[in-house]
Amino acid sequence: MTRVDTRADDLTVIILAAGEGKRMRSRMPKVLHPLCGRPLIGYPVRLARALSDRIVVVVGPDGDGVRETVGPTARFVEQRERLGTGHAVLQARPASGEAGTVVVLPGDVPLLSLEALEELVQHHRATGAAATLLTAVVERPQGYGRVLRQGGRVKRIVEDRDATDDEKRVAEINTSVYAFDARWLWPALADVRPDNDQGELYLTDVVGVLARAGRRVEAVAVADAAEALGVNDRKQLAALAAMQRQRILDRLMADGVTILDPASTYVDDTVSIGPDTVIYPHVIIEGGTTIGCDCVVGAGCHIATCRIGDGVRLRPYCVLTESDVEAGAELGPFCHLRPRVVIGARAKIGNFVEVKKSRIGRGSKANHLAYIGDAVIGDGVNIGAGTITCNYDGYAKHETRIGDKAFVGTNTSLVAPVTVGEGAYIGSGSVITKDVPAGALAVERSPQVVREGWVARRAARASRSKD
Ligand code: UD1
Ligand code: CA
Repeated sequence: MTRVDTRADDLTVIILAAGEGKRMRSRMPKVLHPLCGRPLIGYPVRLARALSDRIVVVVGPDGDGVRETVGPTARFVEQRERLGTGHAVLQARPASGEAGTVVVLPGDVPLLSLEALEELVQHHRATGAAATLLTAVVERPQGYGRVLRQGGRVKRIVEDRDATDDEKRVAEINTSVYAFDARWLWPALADVRPDNDQGELYLTDVVGVLARAGRRVEAVAVADAAEALGVNDRKQLAALAAMQRQRILDRLMADGVTILDPASTYVDDTVSIGPDTVIYPHVIIEGGTTIGCDCVVGAGCHIATCRIGDGVRLRPYCVLTESDVEAGAELGPFCHLRPRVVIGARAKIGNFVEVKKSRIGRGSKANHLAYIGDAVIGDGVNIGAGTITCNYDGYAKHETRIGDKAFVGTNTSLVAPVTVGEGAYIGSGSVITKDVPAGALAVERSPQVVREGWVARRAARASRSKD
């Protein structure tokens, strides 16, 4: 598809995000609820950035979270009282300039594509309309504003709650996405009255005002009606997330990722995965995770905000958070990386190993049952089963440092702060409280006692006392 440049200096995008979202029954503003890992507001903001540098976001009195999430590339205006979508757009007027095109995007319609939006703007420009609406023909129009036409031309929009039974049968809905000629938008908005069921100033009424005044109102129907669906409650949030999830998986598969069971695979919108990586069933990949090519992500893995290099093999049921895994490493089954871990290239972290805020060097191994926290471990180190870094003394955390090629025997406790030098050996079962120099052997263990013939002597004692 050829991209037509719809960017222009005189275009302002207004994003409506001040609504309370009552139907969500949440303490959090609706537009901050995540859909496939991206807050709802992130979707229109991404579209707006593709159209213009002039973005105005209308936020409510509790808008700090929205401001923070969107960041400094947009301007924010506050709608102190929620008096309707028309009132919300009015608040943005001082920040939008009098002339040019005003594109309005709702904060709660996340599946809209850039293609559909660009088509709307192009059509608006080409026809020189006062207003152009994006509409959709849907199977269940309940709850949406209906587009009422006369002789094919758009006459007005009626909200579901204000519609007659006849009007409710109209399947063409208003998507709340519009392009306006600013010269006609502002005067028309001034003529809108709150004479509706909610007593609000509806942006939708601008359409009727313009049509009655004989201004040209155009409509573009979106090809895929799913793009027009809005999130008003949690049921819709889940339904739209399911659609977006399928799109994400389709995109990944088109880019060369094998997904064995799309029905049980959850990948956030913010994740990238390289080709020839294979994802087994029941996997969740979240946050800004990046995964390289030729990796295997075993069944049941949960990965959040990690960087995973090429050729990494995750056996089933690994839980990885805010960590880096370098190329060729092998993890799991059942390993747990807590935040700030770096697993070096070709290292092996096996079952029931928990690692926190540590660096494991290249080719090092901790194959079974260990806790490694606040540690810096060199290359080629062997960490035996049952090794524990005792990093916490009840007051503060302390570091364990282990040099390259060191060998830590099974069931060792390393009481931090402590350093084990390069190539050193630690006998199994040791509680290491003092630094071990490079190349040394440290054993901390009471000497073994052996009593030859003890079993027979004991048995004899026992039978004598019975007599
Ligand atoms: C709106 C449209 C409806 C359309 C539907 C599409 C109106 C009156 N109705 O209905 O025709 O079919 O969207 O999804 O416009 N907002 C504010 N300030 C307010 C009120 C709302 O900023 O005072 C924001 C909301 O945060 C939201 C958007 O405007 O992002 C739409 O508001 P909402 O209450 O969800 O309108 P709908 O009932 O969905
Ligand atoms: Ca809505």
